[in-house]
Amino acid sequence: MTTCFLNGNYLDIKEAKISVLDRGFIFGDAVYEVLVSQDGGIFGLNDHLNRLEKNLSEVMIPSPMSRDGWREVLAKLISIHEKVNLSLYIQVSRGAAPRAHAFPHDVKPTVFVMCQPHVGDHEFRQVKCVTLEDNRWGRCDIKTTSLLPNLLLKNAAIEKGTYEAILVRDGYVTEGASSNIFIVKDSRVSTPSLNHKAILPGVTRKLICDVVRSVGVPCTEREVRRDELLCADEIWLTSSTSDIVAVNILDQMSVGNDFRYPLGRRIHKAFKDYKADNFLGL
Ligand code: PDD
Repeated sequence: MTTCFLNGNYLDIKEAKISVLDRGFIFGDAVYEVLVSQDGGIFGLNDHLNRLEKNLSEVMIPSPMSRDGWREVLAKLISIHEKVNLSLYIQVSRGAAPRAHAFPHDVKPTVFVMCQPHVGDHEFRQVKCVTLEDNRWGRCDIKTTSLLPNLLLKNAAIEKGTYEAILVRDGYVTEGASSNIFIVKDSRVSTPSLNHKAILPGVTRKLICDVVRSVGVPCTEREVRRDELLCADEIWLTSSTSDIVAVNILDQMSVGNDFRYPLGRRIHKAFKDYKADNFLGL
């Protein structure tokens, strides 16, 4: 049995029901977070809650719960699932109301939290990717559940026999369909900047920047041109559920010279160590 939290109640996920008029269902009018827990502790909780609160405020959904409230729900779900390693999904929609584009008044947000077992990557994984035109909207900094453009891009990448789409807008790299991007050239690391609201400010992205700098390697947040991908020594993808993985083939061409990715391996190990020390009990 998997227990979830819905609007104040802990329920078997099969029993959890929402209104068909919920604006999350009708419009994708909702924001979300994905976090991971290990041995009962959560990684990056404050960063995820900061982003959730910022996103709620950006889309003008009233914050439904205090920080302590979120902590309590997450702690309870972790304890119900006997501290197995989990990915935890939080979603807040504007709530249920008769269908109209204008925001309704006096509706209560729908609050949903679920979890599923999570097996992290222990090895440093290498994946094939493809570049695709980033045709999403202009507020990709908001973690909204309106993910159809991302889903279409991800599926186009999968149909081409690859794992992830690396997105390019006006000749500049933005991010993956569900990940952030880093490139390495001559032992210097770069990642697309948060300017222009064109990418999600990934929690993992920020921590990987910190880890790279902590081992004495320069890490710059800047605009990254598409052609820099072609001559990069390494390309990495980062996300809360996959940590850091290397791209070995991009658009059917090898990345780097030798498939060894020395800096990626070093950062993968350093990040794993950092994570192990920072799964905070609730
Ligand atoms: N997605 N960019 C996009 C578009 C994403 O969907 C994600 C993560 C990231 C990485 O963000 P973070 O490091 O905070 O996980 C970047 C999650 C995991 C998902 O939708 O399941």
